[in-house]
Amino acid sequence: MCGIVGYIGHRDAYPVVLKGLQRLEYRGYDSAGIALFDGAELKMSKTKGKVADLKSRLESEISTNGTVGLGHTRWATHGEPNDVNSHPHYSNSGDLVIIHNGIIENYDALKKELKKRGYTFKSDTDTEVLVNLIEDVIKEEGVKLGKAVQIALNQTVGAYAIAVFNKTKPDEIVVARLGSPLAIGVGEDEFFVASDASPFIEFTNNAIYLEDGEMAVIRRNKGVKVRKIKDDTLVDPYIQELQLNLEQIEKGGFDHFMLKEIHEQPNAISDTYRGRMLVEQGLIRMAGVDDNMERIANAKRFIIVACGTSWHAGLVAEYILEDLARIPVEVEYASEFRYRNPIITENDVVIAISQSGETADTMAAIKLAKEKGAFVFGVCNVVGSSISRETNAGAYTHAGPEIGVASTKAFTTQITVLTLMALKLGKFKGTISISDFQFHLQEMERIPEKVKQALKSDALIQEIADKYKDATNCLYLGRGYNFPVALEGALKLKEISYIHAEGYPAAEMKHGPIALIDEQMPVVVIATKKGHYEKVVSNIQEIKSRKGKIIAIVTEGDEEVRELADYVVEVPETIESLTPLLTTIPLQLLSYHIAVMLGKNVDQPRNLAKSVTVE
Ligand code: G6P
Repeated sequence: MCGIVGYIGHRDAYPVVLKGLQRLEYRGYDSAGIALFDGAELKMSKTKGKVADLKSRLESEISTNGTVGLGHTRWATHGEPNDVNSHPHYSNSGDLVIIHNGIIENYDALKKELKKRGYTFKSDTDTEVLVNLIEDVIKEEGVKLGKAVQIALNQTVGAYAIAVFNKTKPDEIVVARLGSPLAIGVGEDEFFVASDASPFIEFTNNAIYLEDGEMAVIRRNKGVKVRKIKDDTLVDPYIQELQLNLEQIEKGGFDHFMLKEIHEQPNAISDTYRGRMLVEQGLIRMAGVDDNMERIANAKRFIIVACGTSWHAGLVAEYILEDLARIPVEVEYASEFRYRNPIITENDVVIAISQSGETADTMAAIKLAKEKGAFVFGVCNVVGSSISRETNAGAYTHAGPEIGVASTKAFTTQITVLTLMALKLGKFKGTISISDFQFHLQEMERIPEKVKQALKSDALIQEIADKYKDATNCLYLGRGYNFPVALEGALKLKEISYIHAEGYPAAEMKHGPIALIDEQMPVVVIATKKGHYEKVVSNIQEIKSRKGKIIAIVTEGDEEVRELADYVVEVPETIESLTPLLTTIPLQLLSYHIAVMLGKNVDQPRNLAKSVTVE
């Protein structure tokens, strides 16, 4: 949560920081602020609201020149999202300025101590405590900023990615991370700091990703010195060459990132299996699995840990892994798993799924699993993310940057990776026949085309969206592989249109949700031909006889459900285990169009953030 950006170099910092903040708004958008240093004066402007609100305010409040800048976009934790609590924060003297992503848990005790020493606080934030603690260390111990940051951080408990600037030593920025991501862009005599690489990708492809527990002093014209916060050891920083390009993080003609990302799914899925799935040779290559085959295939149990949409992908994977690889699977919310003293043994393989690779609860679950001796396999989208580095092995989804807060292509590509893994394990263990294996590969190869087909239902879905956009509740039903898709469809609707929606296993409807059904209630039912079709048709009958409105997702050519439903949306036929890759498409489009029609902010829904780096 929260996005931070910094610049020190030879160009104007303001446009770099401003654009950087816009790219990081997916991380939070409760408030925004920028501090600039013009060689003489440190100036700041900040406001509740979005970066766009900040732009107009800042340009009327302060001059925008200066070659050092720090910016912040906030997802509020401590203190309500108002102007005062917005970042950056000054120290009492006004010499230091800080931006912070994370939480300082012992801020209250530190604040009391600082108050006794005469410090005053304008905001309710933990961050203002930290910047004053750093100032106090400088004053008391007579040390430079880097050392002071280090000493101060060693007194804190919590998580952070910070950048601090001291106007009396204006040629350096000090940064540090623990639990929240921080990348340093290394240009020609200029440096960038950001929560991810998107703010600096048009200026440099070279980045240093700080590891947890590391800090860096970045000196204009001099370079970057990285050391461990705890014991002061110097670290030789690894400069990584980034593969990201600008086009990937722009809207490309679509009205919203979410819509762009929905439409990217055919390519995203093929990018995920490209190079891994060798159909003619009847092979799947996945280095993370190949290198650890014995360990993974001999697991007594898989425990999948994830949050949000990634957890739904985990539920689909449960069906696939049990079906094809015959290994028992448990799917856990990472936040529950980490706090309930779970039974984990060395024979377990924990699969952590995370688009961002930064989710705090998933990270904590991984650490717990590793402590108990389990092997941890990561499925992440963001290359080099904290989770991808913490896991023992893994597979990237290669979906490209996902910026819309409501996850779409991450979901389908996570399922793709996990399907490949299940097929590979099934083949290795002999739990799937060669011909079935081969058939799955061929069918997987057809999925991108079929997703394109499914996307063609857009006009029909707009009509459905228009009809039901004013509903206050909505039910999503599915069975088997499509039960998690129902959960995901309901989540999408809730997230971006704020309509209450529930996903349910279709057969469970009669144990409760059926009481909600009346002529006002739209019920989205996934009723594809493969997988309990007749049973789902009976469920549809039950809804119809209670006058519920039925929107059915069916296999192309289905006639039976068409007679019962108010609307049918067709998806191409495929094997049952791959149907989630198709049935999810109309549900994503439905939530998208409803949200647009209701005038909601699709890419930045209220209260949410894309990357949840606090528990
Ligand atoms: C947030 C996002 C969701 C996402 C979840 C897990 O809640 O808004 O879209 O599914 O975090 O994130 P992860 O990056 O771990 O997949």
